[in-house]
Amino acid sequence: MIYPTKWTEYELLDFGNQRKLERFGNIITNRPEPQAVSKPSLPLEQWEQADLYFRESKNQKGNWNKQIQDFVLEYKLGSIPIRFKLNQGAFKHLGIFPEQAANWEFISDRCTYLHDKGITPKVLNLFAYTGGASLAANLSGAEVTHVDSVKSVVTWARQNADLNRIKTIRWIVEDARRFVEKSVRRGDLYHGIIMDPPVFGLGPKGKNWKLNRDLPELVQNALKILHPQHRFFILNTYSPQLPLSELKQMLSNTTGFPKQYESTTLGLKILSDKRLELGNLIRF
Ligand SMILES: C[S@@+](CC[C@H](N)C(=O)[O-])C[C@H]1O[C@@H](n2cnc3c(N)ncnc32)[C@H](O)[C@@H]1O
Repeated sequence: MIYPTKWTEYELLDFGNQRKLERFGNIITNRPEPQAVSKPSLPLEQWEQADLYFRESKNQKGNWNKQIQDFVLEYKLGSIPIRFKLNQGAFKHLGIFPEQAANWEFISDRCTYLHDKGITPKVLNLFAYTGGASLAANLSGAEVTHVDSVKSVVTWARQNADLNRIKTIRWIVEDARRFVEKSVRRGDLYHGIIMDPPVFGLGPKGKNWKLNRDLPELVQNALKILHPQHRFFILNTYSPQLPLSELKQMLSNTTGFPKQYESTTLGLKILSDKRLELGNLIRF
């Protein structure tokens, strides 16, 4: 399992009983986590001291016990700070997936490597959410295209870019499949492609996204716009319906997918070294 090791402002304090106890700056949260199937380690009193508690009601929607003002969380990518605006909505998410910091480091290393070879890396971030990977790539010298089908999410990502005084990301509100199909027709080429597709998603015109059905074609098309030599690729999935073995099988049947790549799980670790597996990760 891969997990981030360089957070100072974020910490997974404990997990269990399908919830996780986390620290974002000086705010402690207690929110649902279906993957946390073990027993918690910390005593109940400590869990009850969380500042923010999310109670799920229906279709993953729910309520927070209280609403606090938007707050900013910082991650240090080497010596470069990346700042994120976090806020509470109708879902348990706050605008960041802290385990993804392990990928931000990978992206930064790859971009820096290409840069040192005299190449300005072009990076495509699909299903890009609030832009963690886009910011990491941009701050590591890449020209970034950020694609997400939900306008309000792209607005949030742009606010994160503003917070970091980044002005050079290309923002696209579009269905990831459609964007990639158009890029293939145009003959575009990227040095890095990152994708974090959800299990179910929406396209702008209601054309739904289903991970198990739509991923192979998307990956196949993405490979057509990935540079043949100077390249990197990251695919994350967070679906219990698609175990790592099946994901690898799916990729081995995908035309053009390389034979050698890194396949692992992505997660978080608490102080006592107990690990929480959150998703699958394929990279090369
Ligand atoms: C799991 S989140 C990605 C999290 C992100 N990679 C990170 O670490 O911060 C999935 C994102 O996919 C977007 N999305 C859903 N369906 C989409 C589609 N068909 N095309 C593009 N984006 C889509 C959602 O709006 C959401 O922002």
